[in-house]
Amino acid sequence: NRPIRVALLGAGSVGSQVARILLENAEELAARVGAPLLLTGIAVRNVDAKRDVDLPKELFTDDAERLILGSDIVIELMGGIDPAKHLISLALSTGADVVTANKALVAAHGPELFDQARRVGAQLTYEAAVAGAIPIIRPLRDSLAGDRVERILGIVNGTTNFILDRMHTRGDSLEEALRIATELGYAEADPTADIGGYDAQQKAAILASIAFHTEVPVELVHREGITEITIEQIERAKAAGFVVKLLAICERVTGSDGVEGISARVYPALVDEQHPLASVHGGNNAVFVQAQAAGDLMFYGAGAGGVETASAVLGDLVSSARRRVNGGPGLGESTHADLPVLEVGEITTRY
Ligand code: NDP
Ligand code: HSE
Repeated sequence: NRPIRVALLGAGSVGSQVARILLENAEELAARVGAPLLLTGIAVRNVDAKRDVDLPKELFTDDAERLILGSDIVIELMGGIDPAKHLISLALSTGADVVTANKALVAAHGPELFDQARRVGAQLTYEAAVAGAIPIIRPLRDSLAGDRVERILGIVNGTTNFILDRMHTRGDSLEEALRIATELGYAEADPTADIGGYDAQQKAAILASIAFHTEVPVELVHREGITEITIEQIERAKAAGFVVKLLAICERVTGSDGVEGISARVYPALVDEQHPLASVHGGNNAVFVQAQAAGDLMFYGAGAGGVETASAVLGDLVSSARRRVNGGPGLGESTHADLPVLEVGEITTRY
């Protein structure tokens, strides 16, 4: 099959890891898709900037619009609304599929971009936009589509979880813990989005919209951040057997007038130290989903970080590429790897 032409917008914490994996695992990915994934270029602001990941210099450009034209799939990892929205819209207008991790954009302008994608028969996917590496968008949108989700309760921001965890376990100040979270690539370009609860608010809006099949505007999600949390409060909570966590809660509720609706809110809460959410440490996230038929489900893993988030981005990329090559894989269709099936006696791993 002819190569699938992939344009990458952004080479920061996430984009640079996506590019590295695309280049390093090119052969394996080609076999999995049924066609090579050809990285045609990487659009950035500053083509001469020194980067943590060593990538071929000739791939870099500051002309994102030009790079998009002629692409089959565009991966947007710049963040923010402008120019990301314009560039995604441009990509869709050419019929390209788009993969993004941009929750700010999906939460604010998702419906209009999804409409545009639908009109041109393109795919706009965003698994990495909520909870980093954790598969949560597709499970909610597809696997649970026949069930009735009642409640989602989660830790959906890695930076604030990292900060609260460091304050709790090491007595670090909020500022010191934020500095480390930023170094680790967890924080947004403007970390106010993390500590102010805006990032979690955007993610709550996205999760609630999918889970309850309702457009939940981001401004209707109640938001409190962690900027006012002090080390003294953390210590008092600890002495009483609690951990402070920034929670996103989305649930079906019945108002005092008997009308059924949705409530979505983000705020720092006291979590009993025996509760599973209390043991979500560092930049990890966890999302509990309670559904009518499925009961309780828990999704757990890395909620932030360049390489971890790259996993979710590449999953969307492979899914779009497969759709272009053969309409997508059926169950058990992807058997190119031909790995040996081991006898039980040969298995040495112990859990
Ligand atoms: P970074 O700030 O590290 O990187 C942004 C990249 O985009 C940089 O390479 C920058 O170029 C480029 N860029 C920004 N603005 C422009 C512009 N106007 N024109 C051209 N290039 C531009 O961001 P992250 O990698 O951390 O995040 C990317 C996206 O992924 C965001 O939407 C974020 O919310 C989301 N995300 C991030 C996670 C994380 O753990 N970091 C996890 C999940 C989602 P230059 O390098 O030249 O400045
Ligand atoms: N800044 C975000 C976080 C990145 O800390 O969770 C992942 O969406």
